[in-house]
Amino acid sequence: MAPETNGGAFPIQAIDHIEFWVGNARQSAYYFTNAWGFCPSAYAGLETGVRDHASHLVVQGDIRFVFSGALQPDSPIAGHVARHGDGVKDVAFRVPDAEEAYRLAVERGARGIKEPTVSEDEHGKVVRAAIGTYGETIHSFIQRSEYSGPFLPGFRATGGVAGPDGAGGPGARSGVGIKAVDHVVGNVELGKMNTWAAYYADIMGFTNLVHFRDDQISTDYTALMSKVMWDGVGRVKLPINEPAPGKKKSQIDEYLDFYRGPGVQHMALLSDDILSTVQRLRGGGVEFLPVPDAYYEEVRERFSDLRDVDVAALQSQRILADRDEEGYLLQIFTKPVVDRPTIFFEIIERHGSRGFGLGNFKALFEAIEREQALRGTL
Ligand code: FE2
Repeated sequence: MAPETNGGAFPIQAIDHIEFWVGNARQSAYYFTNAWGFCPSAYAGLETGVRDHASHLVVQGDIRFVFSGALQPDSPIAGHVARHGDGVKDVAFRVPDAEEAYRLAVERGARGIKEPTVSEDEHGKVVRAAIGTYGETIHSFIQRSEYSGPFLPGFRATGGVAGPDGAGGPGARSGVGIKAVDHVVGNVELGKMNTWAAYYADIMGFTNLVHFRDDQISTDYTALMSKVMWDGVGRVKLPINEPAPGKKKSQIDEYLDFYRGPGVQHMALLSDDILSTVQRLRGGGVEFLPVPDAYYEEVRERFSDLRDVDVAALQSQRILADRDEEGYLLQIFTKPVVDRPTIFFEIIERHGSRGFGLGNFKALFEAIEREQALRGTL
């Protein structure tokens, strides 16, 4: 097993944004705007002097998603989409000093992707750099303390909400109640989980919050292992999954086949009112994994002393519930949101629990297996 050394403090302030490389950025942004309640906030493309790609920023609460699509066949985005389908290219971190972050990371063994670069416009300046992580995924370092524009130099504001606070303005939409990114999960190949866990430990000083063994994450047919790496305070939590041998093909293998390698599997978005969030998402056409009624018999028992948890309401929306020593959490998982069975989302509401829903893994994975069987990939 690889050592999990602590590389020492690494100054990450937050997840700045998540950038998706997609086939049609305008339509992806439209989906997240209309089904997910994001607000269109900034745009870069031909009209702003960008010749080879178009990028649309959408915002809800502290969550910023950027969808970028190629305008030319030789754009790196076009090649990326051909290989992976629509996927997450960049989990960007906000840092106080991008040059220092890049220097530290590369010194500690990170693969440099983009040397620190300053870009400026009338709103100020941004310094950004990037390092590689699993597969073709990268982490940008964004230093924006001297920038007041809608997103990054080159972008122009398009909507009513420019900042990450979700405050209303002209054209502001009502969101669905999601506020922040809780965690971002990567799928890596068999035998590579510890390598990438060590990468985050060595380079960013992350520690292992929790380790799920394959005997904890398994059904009769499939299994996987997972390690949650985090910054120690909870601003950034990055679980890393690898497949484990089972009687049938696991969901991680299915992902690796269709994404053509490692990449981001799902992003969990925090809500304070998951019932209302899920209701509104369903109204917008978002599809969730179904769980059987039998699952709720067990939830009723486990939550019998917690009167503020309305199990019937959870059951009506197929929301999952889990408890640990620290509290409880409610969660639900979408079906894949792209054509390939790769990326999906989780909605999570936390009440003290810092867990990931271990008690739900079996019910969840059985639900995923039923979907895999329909796809002929189990
Ligand atoms: Fe998750």
